[in-house]
Amino acid sequence: MDKITVKEILSLKGKRKITMLTAYDYPIASLVDKAGLDMILVGDSLANVVLGLDSTTKVGMTEMLHHAKAVTRAVKNALVIGDMPYESYQINPEESVKNARRFISEGNCDAVKLEWFDKCPEVTKEIIKAGIPVMGHIGLTPQTADKLGGFKVQGKDADAARRLIEQAKELERLGCFAIVLECVPDRIAGLITQKLRIPTIGIGAGADCDGQVLVINDMLGLFERYTPKFVKKYLNLSPIILKAIEEFKEDVLRAKFPAPEHTFTIKEDELKKI
Ligand code: KIV
Repeated sequence: MDKITVKEILSLKGKRKITMLTAYDYPIASLVDKAGLDMILVGDSLANVVLGLDSTTKVGMTEMLHHAKAVTRAVKNALVIGDMPYESYQINPEESVKNARRFISEGNCDAVKLEWFDKCPEVTKEIIKAGIPVMGHIGLTPQTADKLGGFKVQGKDADAARRLIEQAKELERLGCFAIVLECVPDRIAGLITQKLRIPTIGIGAGADCDGQVLVINDMLGLFERYTPKFVKKYLNLSPIILKAIEEFKEDVLRAKFPAPEHTFTIKEDELKKI
């Protein structure tokens, strides 16, 4: 299988659902790619689920590029999207283009994702003009959640829903190749999906989106601090890993590890010469 392109992602709309997961390191990105997911997002959720920070606003370009490089080293087929961190695209369009380019040239990503904010259209326009594919992100935008009244479902009344529809249409008009809809009522996400020619990728946005994304640590049960309602836990890895670590500890304490099969030896006659 060849590397999936932005054009192919666009062509999937209406044909079949699009699959996307986050990844932050080489081993997990290898597995996501091996499973045949269409897209991998190096999400700024890195802050919460990997780095132990309490907000996605606390990661910058250095951390994001470090993890993007690890992911892209592993991926052969999926389209890899670098999530632009807080303040890497809010300052001014020139700085935004410079940072977006770094995701492509240093992080080896195929595209970038930007969360909606008041200057989003002009920044998106400049990044696309620079030849970099952009995925939009509307609804709950965690980097500016405080301006949205916290981590809440967005678009719940007619005015707010109309604003989301306008944002989605504007992002399509500017040339985004897909839009993440986060925490949006299913009927509104369905309406946006119907109105657009580009795919919508839902997270907490119901079943009518063109595709779905989850944070991999959430769906694998590898993040215990909180679990949003929209997460389906396909595995609960934390207790399994904890058990293995405790077994290792016990084995070492009882001198049961390493066993002969884990041990290197020297011939008796060689030993005698020492
Ligand atoms: O950072 C992230 O993981 C995201 C997803 C929630 C879409 O932006």
